[in-house]
Amino acid sequence: MSQWWRDAVIYQVYPRSFADTNGDGIGDLAGIRDRMGYLSQLGIDAIWLSPFYTSPMKDGGYDVADFRDVDPMFGTLADFDALVAAAHAKGIKVIVDIVPNHSSSDHAWFSAALAAGPGSPERARYHFRDGTDGPPNNWQSYFGGGAWRRLPDGQWYLHMFDDSQPDLNWDNPEVRDYFLGTLRFWLDRGADGFRVDVAHGLVKAPGLPDAEEEAAPSESAPAPYRDQDGVHEIYRDWRRVLDSYDGDRMAVAEAWVDSPEHRSRYVRADELHQAFNFDLLQAGFSATDFRKVIDAELATSGTVGAPATWVLSNHDRKRHATRYGGGAVGLDRARAASLLMLALPGSSYLYQGEELGLFEYEDLPDSARQDPVWERSGHTDPGRDGCRVPLPWKATGPSLGFGSAPGWLPQPAGFAELSVETQDGTPGSTLGLYRAALRLRRRHRPATLTWNPPAGPDVLSFANGALTCVTNFGTTPVAVDGEVLLSSRPLADGRLPANATAWLSA
Ligand code: GLC
Ligand code: CA
Repeated sequence: MSQWWRDAVIYQVYPRSFADTNGDGIGDLAGIRDRMGYLSQLGIDAIWLSPFYTSPMKDGGYDVADFRDVDPMFGTLADFDALVAAAHAKGIKVIVDIVPNHSSSDHAWFSAALAAGPGSPERARYHFRDGTDGPPNNWQSYFGGGAWRRLPDGQWYLHMFDDSQPDLNWDNPEVRDYFLGTLRFWLDRGADGFRVDVAHGLVKAPGLPDAEEEAAPSESAPAPYRDQDGVHEIYRDWRRVLDSYDGDRMAVAEAWVDSPEHRSRYVRADELHQAFNFDLLQAGFSATDFRKVIDAELATSGTVGAPATWVLSNHDRKRHATRYGGGAVGLDRARAASLLMLALPGSSYLYQGEELGLFEYEDLPDSARQDPVWERSGHTDPGRDGCRVPLPWKATGPSLGFGSAPGWLPQPAGFAELSVETQDGTPGSTLGLYRAALRLRRRHRPATLTWNPPAGPDVLSFANGALTCVTNFGTTPVAVDGEVLLSSRPLADGRLPANATAWLSA
């Protein structure tokens, strides 16, 4: 199979919340292996596993203490090998997360840096600076508060995220070599690719100059800690490693940059293979906004020969059923948007539970919140726990089939009726819609998009090969032509209702 990732549907597993096999309330690798039949039946091409590495879990595992081992709470390296074997046996590829911007403060390197003191080679793996009148520059953490923490010996270290996540110094060849070795470590164990965490952030501007704005950083405006030209050299090195393996290994960038043009630089032919388009995830449910994002993406990704890479939900963002208004309307819109996304050319990423129509748990009790954003923002930002709630597999039980005990986060009322057990085989269910869409998509392999004249300002219609996709973003039903293959809401008298998408034979 050649360049499988170009039009792959990739399912993000957040291991902590997927399935718990040993009753400790924490999802584990064995739980993912056990559910491979479910994933295969869903019809996805690959899974992406959020971090399962050794970690004190200050940031849900994005604080890695050993990049080459499995945390005991998730299992063992042997469990990882068994998971990969089970996935491959079903023709499912496995992508793992790599977190190169920072380590955990529990990493052996950071302990060594603290012990060795100022000016040591151990400190040169991170960004340590002197600063007697305050922090070395004005950079702010993405999670809230300043980005520097002072040590008792007077030096400061940089942490763009939590202070338990010191940023690594990518000017140091030892850091570069270590990550090349880490890529090989997982490739040797059968990983098919990597999702590159904070891919835009590794290289900092020389001299660590002040940022223009002192306020908390926006996600993508240019800054001395983001999207520096030097990052591209790193990904060229990584590409050489990936290309040296057989079997079409790949990497996808989490790159928060300020334009599709800048994003496309991460996916030039000698760099990474995909970069998430977060513009769709940030767009409102509107025909104009969706059209703008789709046109911009297809115009730019094409220039470098990379596939568009779509996403509507992930472990960092409010689930799309809730973003679009919540309740029945939010779910209708979420189903419509997902069906539209799955008809677009390129690759799509799904986030676990969206195939069940799960909503954000916005009323999660404050005492249960674990995301460092909650504390660091002084309780002004609830953080990302609401989209990380354990999956409901069954309609009953202490954690709705997630495990034999309550999960690490409580589940909201309303998850029972969205459980896999409830939806499996139920006509009109969201799970059934995703399964049918992925089945049809495999047959049609959407490749190029041609817009049809819109039937109104709130309608988008495009042909993609033999498939026509029509979305009604408006409030009144619209007439559609052709044989309906699938729709997110039932049509009445040949009319597509509000907040709905239909796939028709062109
Ligand atoms: C990425 C991850 C997010 C994490 C952050 C720091 O944005 O998706 O979950 O908190 O990087 O590693
Ligand atoms: Ca467990």
